[in-house]
Amino acid sequence: EKGGYPHFMLKEIYEQPKSISDCFRGRLNASTGHLLLGGLREYANKMVNADRIVIIACGTSWHAGLVAEYIFEEFCRIPVEVEYASEFRYRNPVIKEGDVVIAISQSGETADTLAAIELAKSKGAVIFGVCNVVGSSIARATHEGAYTHAGPEIGVASTKAFTAQITVLSMMALMIAQRRGTISERRYHEMLVELETIPAKVEKALALNAQIEQISEIFKDATNFLYLGRGYNFPVALEGALKLKEISYIHAEGYPAAEMKHGPIALIDENMPVVFIATKDSSYEKVVSNIQEVRARKGRVIAIVTEGDTLIPSMAEFTIEVPATDEALMPLVSVVPLQLLSYHIAVMRGCNVDQPRNLAKSVTVE
Ligand code: M6R
Repeated sequence: EKGGYPHFMLKEIYEQPKSISDCFRGRLNASTGHLLLGGLREYANKMVNADRIVIIACGTSWHAGLVAEYIFEEFCRIPVEVEYASEFRYRNPVIKEGDVVIAISQSGETADTLAAIELAKSKGAVIFGVCNVVGSSIARATHEGAYTHAGPEIGVASTKAFTAQITVLSMMALMIAQRRGTISERRYHEMLVELETIPAKVEKALALNAQIEQISEIFKDATNFLYLGRGYNFPVALEGALKLKEISYIHAEGYPAAEMKHGPIALIDENMPVVFIATKDSSYEKVVSNIQEVRARKGRVIAIVTEGDTLIPSMAEFTIEVPATDEALMPLVSVVPLQLLSYHIAVMRGCNVDQPRNLAKSVTVE
């Protein structure tokens, strides 16, 4: 059942080129310019005319929501708020006509997300669901939705569901942007073509496994980790830290790279591994400065960089090279080495990777 892999988590990490392609099936065809999510019918018009998008989710799904915030704002020019379902539901939130709500959940059974949906509904909102489990409670409670089609995810640590969620949300954003006229035809087509290349790029990131295993050996006894990224890679930093915490029980924090100087920099010494997600994008130079600041304090830098980068490898102790892609799609690729890093560290520490202590696959109680 694990398909020859020692753990479900590793199997699911390796399934990502396929799960992302499955997510495209029947929906995306770059050569014909076809992009259509069957579940986006009436809701599409609402979204095209939306004044605001509110995303509600928990955990890794919340991180996918954060990536979506950047994508929707950039391409659709609609303001987005990403809310922890558990906070939203007890805050008497303001929901107005013209707001659209997107709920994201792998299991479709998360109690807080479900309660947040019911609350938003009671305030008149129309809810769009992005779920993986077909027929789940959240899929049923939402008005319309799009399944991620990632297949069953058994490992408690979410991996392929995360990349499938970002894939669906990217397709939604591009569809809406085209209808709103907030994206040029040229950029729209470039993005569709680029989306189709993602499974092959994820495959290349998976080929880094042996290198990541070696790096894991060096850091497996660390007691803390810092993950830093900026822009589209900021949610990836949060996700990398969450993966490590969940399965290896090493304390890890994800932070926006530029926030480092407002606090976390105080933690940096020769024992602090700092994972930078520093791919070539619009914040590259700024992140390079942050790497120098960490090096100056003897922090141990592991950097995820774009293939062919020569600058960061001259500064970081370890560099992991991933293929280049549009910065809006980079999370789909840059998260993969972080999934593998947490996996190997957890295995080396003798942890129960698929069923970490104190955690359940779906959190059906609040
Ligand atoms: O099933 P959901 O996507 O609603 O689950 C939300 C979180 O409970 C979940 O992502 C959790 O954080 C995972 N264990 C992360 O790996």
